[in-house]
Parts: sequence; C-alpha cells; structure tokens
Amino acid sequence: MKLSVFSNYRLLSENASDEIIDLVKYKPTAVICLASGDTPRLCYQLLVEKAIAGNIDFRAITFIGLDEWVGIPPANEGSCHYFFDKFLLKHLNFSISNIHLFDGLSTDFNEECKKMDQVLNVKAGIDLMVVGVGMNGHIGFNEPGTSLNNYSHLVELDNTTASVGQKYFKETTTLKYGITIGLKHLLEASKVLMLASGFKKAPVIKKALEEEISDQMPASIIRTHPNSEVMLDEEAASMLSS
Ligand code: F6R
Repeated sequence: MKLSVFSNYRLLSENASDEIIDLVKYKPTAVICLASGDTPRLCYQLLVEKAIAGNIDFRAITFIGLDEWVGIPPANEGSCHYFFDKFLLKHLNFSISNIHLFDGLSTDFNEECKKMDQVLNVKAGIDLMVVGVGMNGHIGFNEPGTSLNNYSHLVELDNTTASVGQKYFKETTTLKYGITIGLKHLLEASKVLMLASGFKKAPVIKKALEEEISDQMPASIIRTHPNSEVMLDEEAASMLSS
C-alpha cells in the first residue's frame, strides 16, 4: 500500500483526478468504480474540467457506481445516483449502456446484485476503484463485520452510517439498507485509491492504517491489496504516528 499525504484537500483531489484521467487515456476501455460522497466531490469536479479541456473520450469506459441507499429514488438529491449524475455522468461522454448503477428501488436485490456481478465478470473486473472511508471505517456500504468474501450484496446499515448519511438529504430520511459492491471486488480490482480528508476522519484513518487488519475495520483491508494507494490531506493524516 502506498500512502500519499497532501498539504490540502485541493491537492489531494488534483492528484486523484489525475490518476483517473491517466487511466482513461492509457486504457480507454477501462472499468472504473467510483464512490459518491463529500470526499471525492472536488476530485470529480476537477476530473470533469480536465476531461473537457483535454477532449478525453469516456465512450468506451465502463462506469460502476459503488453503492446505493435502498428505497431512495434516483431523483432524490441524497441518492448516489443523483450524485453521480450531477457531478460526473451528465458532463462526460459515457455511453449509456456502459453505465451501471444499483437500483435502490429494485424489488429483487438478489437479482440486482447478480446483474452487477455479471457485468463485472464479463468485463473481467475493475481496473480502478476510488473509495472513501466512512466514520465507522466502512468502504462502500461494507459495514464493520462484512465478510471479505462478498461480491455485490445487500447490507443492513449500522447506526453510524444511518445517522451520518443524513448529511446528504434535505429531510430526515430513514436509511436502513444499502446495496454495495463487495470487498471481494475491491480485493480483486487492479488498483484501489482510498481518499480521506479532514480532521474528523483522522481517528478512523489511524485505526485503519495503524491498528489490526480486521473485518471490523473494513478500511484496514486496503493494506492487504497489492496495488492500493491511500491519499490523505494533512488533517486526515494528523493522528498517524509516522
Ligand atoms: C459513498 C460511499 C461511502 C462514502 C463514505 C465517506 O458512495 O461509498 O462509503 O465513501 O461514507 O463519505 P464522505 O466522503 O461523505 O465522508
């Protein structure tokens, strides 16, 4: 695992967006799986700016949305779908048929997971995953205790996720389940970038990077990935011992 600490959030976001752009240029048929949330927002804004300025072609790129809240319609501003659309998809020239987002309103989540896993099987896995870290150490909606052997699955959200998740919604929203790409997908991805910024993430980053590697702290799994990079700003790195 490579650890990169940047002096501020903007630099972190610049570097993360460069990694995505470099991959798209180098492999125009790449499969990228991206998180939503506050952390990668600036990275995506910069990515869009650079892609437009450089005329970068996303038509053959496969886009995989990392996760979704169950029961939340895509038109709800708090949904991951809405986020991906607003910050990425509508600005870049993805082919619609190459965009794969979980349907939070599905009536059959087993089928929804199977569909996503089949896409990834056919495409031979993920080239680049960009993930954030939850306040409880989750990656995607892989909550503490989630098996490392899971591909896409339905998750009962823990209390931290259900309460922290309110920040994405205009009104108080019941968040009980999520659907997510699994840790097994992450472990099999060619490259994983994990981003964290701000003092509030410092304690979880310390646990993830310096304490025991355990399924109780899903973000610690990144240390076992052969090609992973953790990008932090100085605030998120502030509790690390070295
Ligand atoms: C969102 C996701 C979550 C977030 C995490 C951090 O698609 O997968 O795991 O990455 O909860 O969220 P922020 O970046 O809002 O602090």
